[in-house]
Amino acid sequence: MCGIIGYIGSKQALNILISGLSKLEYRGYDSAGIGIITNHKIKIIKNKGELTNLINKLGDQKITGNLGIGHTRWATHGAPSSLNAHPHISQNGKIAIIHNGIIENYLSLKKELESKGYKFKTETDSEVIANLLEYYQHSNFLISIQKTVKRLKGSFALGIINENYPDTLYAVRNESPLIVGTTSNEQFIASDIPAIINWTKEIYYLDNLEIAVLTKNQIKFYNIKLQEIQKYLSKITWDNEEAAKHGYKHFMIKEIFEQRKAIANTINPRIKNNMPLLDINITKQELNNVNKIYVIACGTSYYAGLNAKPLMEQLLNITTEVDLASEFRYRQPLIDNNSLVIIISQSGETADTLAALRLAKEKNAKTIAIVNVVGSTIAREADQTIYTWAGPEIAVASTKAYTTQLAIIYLLTIKLANLKGKVKKKELINLVKTLQLIPDQVNEILTQNEKIRALANEFYKEQDIYFIGRNIDYYTALEGALKLKEISYIHAEAYAAGELKHGTIALIEEGTLVVSLCTNKELYPKMINNIKEITARGAKTLVITNNKDEVGDYHIFIPPTNPYFNSILSVIPLQLFAYHMANNRNCNIDKPKNLAKSVTVE
Ligand code: AGP
Repeated sequence: MCGIIGYIGSKQALNILISGLSKLEYRGYDSAGIGIITNHKIKIIKNKGELTNLINKLGDQKITGNLGIGHTRWATHGAPSSLNAHPHISQNGKIAIIHNGIIENYLSLKKELESKGYKFKTETDSEVIANLLEYYQHSNFLISIQKTVKRLKGSFALGIINENYPDTLYAVRNESPLIVGTTSNEQFIASDIPAIINWTKEIYYLDNLEIAVLTKNQIKFYNIKLQEIQKYLSKITWDNEEAAKHGYKHFMIKEIFEQRKAIANTINPRIKNNMPLLDINITKQELNNVNKIYVIACGTSYYAGLNAKPLMEQLLNITTEVDLASEFRYRQPLIDNNSLVIIISQSGETADTLAALRLAKEKNAKTIAIVNVVGSTIAREADQTIYTWAGPEIAVASTKAYTTQLAIIYLLTIKLANLKGKVKKKELINLVKTLQLIPDQVNEILTQNEKIRALANEFYKEQDIYFIGRNIDYYTALEGALKLKEISYIHAEAYAAGELKHGTIALIEEGTLVVSLCTNKELYPKMINNIKEITARGAKTLVITNNKDEVGDYHIFIPPTNPYFNSILSVIPLQLFAYHMANNRNCNIDKPKNLAKSVTVE
């Protein structure tokens, strides 16, 4: 939520800030603003709405200056408006800040500052930070930052500029992500790598309560006691080419079509001698001691995680619970050092998922994270991390991150099953071989894009759509419904097919569209019964299946695979269907309303 960028160097800050913000819009896009030190004074321009509104407001104005900060907002406190947009400025106008996160004690801080004569102009929690920095002013500005940070409760990544230090950019974080990029003569701060990768691939990851002091030629890092610390410099190995649209109308459709490559990149280098080669350290003894596996995630990552249950329970013979991070963290789960906790997150920054990871670690569970964003907080804090090598996912709706998460779940389970030794090696080798066919099978499904577009042309005016399936197909139905609602704003619900007649069938009437997932041969007769019950009530059914018996009105065929792996294939038509439905409805597909790519607040 919210994207921040800062620059100090010899170039004009304005161009760099705008370009960086354009790469951060996926984090929030209800307002944007920049603040630049120009002729020793802070000049702030901000506007409501997407970044283009800010660019239009800037018009031909040339705000010169080599030090500046920029922000794109996802509103939490205060309506999306020009006034509430960042940067926020202190009462005397000398200090400006950009903030990503939530200050939980802002009301009491605001009251305290008001009692000392401070007047607030906005409804945000962030404005208290600018005024606290002014209130604690000190000849050493680091002391002002230290005192301010000590008063803040909650999450924050902050970029700070101060007219008294026109050659210095300050940054500090707690919980919200913040990176520092460097070259020999210019320095950057940003919420995420794509914002600055055009200028540098050398990155420091700021940890909680660390302060960065950036001048044109150098960076110094301090802990909260203001002792100077040394940090490890990481090198980024991908470039913005991978994050550009390459002629596709939206990032989402580009990312859907990248899935063959993303899955192949995730699987192929990790298979040797027909067995998974994952860099995970767990001994047979440790695995035998595991009496429960918890898989924790949010949203689409949670739906990927659901697939771990049947697979892990069958191949490892260990009870596996899959939980929403936001529920898990508040339900006092029975975890101990015999629990294995698997955390799944594309961004590696989701606040609830991170909190669940920390809870699991506190209780001494072994933790493994499956993460896409390299160097993200979850990736760094988990005991062990397996990266999905999906490449940058820009569209808010997750597609290639989901299928690569599934690929890792499959590989990890097979690896652990091999270690545990309860399943015959031959069976595991067959699973690995089947898995290696998946990238080409994904491509085969993608060739049906035009057919799916035609279906969307027929159905895009629907108001309510239901998705049904059994077992793994039910998990895919959940993901299909989420994909459709988040980008097309059509009401969509998923149900376990057997549950339909326990209430929901009351909503099925003449013409209702029901998407039915039928990929499990053993359950096929049960699904046929469900489809017949629905069609008897006048509903239209779109059937996603690997069985050629044509039941239902419309069909999309997917290639057969091992039943454990069906989701990775059957989700592809659902992603395409959601995309074309939303495109027909002229929705803002890559940036759906009210959503953000990285949910760093709970
Ligand atoms: C996916 O389409 C969503 N927009 C969302 O549900 C997402 O999967 C969820 O917020 C979790 O994010 P994470 O994987 O980055 O933790």
